[in-house]
Amino acid sequence: APETPTTSTLPKAELHVHIEGALEPELTFDRARRNGITLPYTDVEDLRGRYDFSNLQSFLDLYYTGMNVLRRAEDFTALADDYLARAAHQGVRHAEIFFDPQAHTTRGVSLETALDGLEASLSSSRERFGVSTGLIACFLRDRGPAEAERMLDELLEHSHRITGVGLDSAELGYPPADFANVFARAREAGLHLVAHAGEEGPAEYVWQALDVLGVERIDHGIRSVDDEELVRRIARDRVPLTVCPLSNVRLRCVNTLPEHCLPRLVDAGVRTTINSDDPSYFGGHVGDNFAAIERELGFGARDLREFALNSVEAAFLPEPERDRLR
Ligand code: HPA
Ligand code: ZN
Repeated sequence: APETPTTSTLPKAELHVHIEGALEPELTFDRARRNGITLPYTDVEDLRGRYDFSNLQSFLDLYYTGMNVLRRAEDFTALADDYLARAAHQGVRHAEIFFDPQAHTTRGVSLETALDGLEASLSSSRERFGVSTGLIACFLRDRGPAEAERMLDELLEHSHRITGVGLDSAELGYPPADFANVFARAREAGLHLVAHAGEEGPAEYVWQALDVLGVERIDHGIRSVDDEELVRRIARDRVPLTVCPLSNVRLRCVNTLPEHCLPRLVDAGVRTTINSDDPSYFGGHVGDNFAAIERELGFGARDLREFALNSVEAAFLPEPERDRLR
């Protein structure tokens, strides 16, 4: 969907985007060809036609399969360049980008390969795209805390190259509290902390992310609306939620966009930001998400400016850097 000029020109930060979820079918085919990989799809339209999800897991199956074409550092560089060009076009001036190290190391692609490749793009993103960047390494919660501990050991050898750590992948049955020690160690190392919670999982997981892990932002957090006391808590403490409206509809976490709880969160005084999550899979980048909530949730220009400002306030940036984005 084309975005309106108002929303696209708003300078904003994107705080919830999985770089592997920015992999467009065209780049999937391009990388498959370069790496000698035969894809089980006839063409890009065939692949795009499979982007029809019934829940988070049905998406994750395709997401983890798709990233198999990322083998060499230059594949990660091409992926990040492609994301940055598209995000810049929609007003993104700063991006804190998630990546899933275990999704690569478990298929024989090293952390160094992923980091080197991403960094080759991100280190000059300000000059080339006008977008400053940070990298957040996410633990795959469905692979458990023991593997996350080992991944953290490896990440800490590169801690100067990342802004923070997060927690993602299949949520139900994988409570944040299981990762208490992993997050305590990451905090000790001076890393910023975030976690997906309350996307498909219950409000209880949001409490755990806050009280047990001590995260600074909640990714998604939409199920918080099931618990009034929790909503009061995140409003009082100004805990930012990185909401991804088009993702929530595509993964059927909400039935339709007009039924989304975003207006309720805003009315309750929660600091919310708007993000794309997996822009290639869910129907657009952050500007498309702004346009969709303007169209279908009735938010006006002042609200949209507020969302953009919230993203700048919630970014892991020093104050002078924030000024550049306001
Ligand atoms: N939720 C959880 N894990 C993810 C997602 C998501 O929306 N996208 C990529 N990994
Ligand atoms: Zn996400």
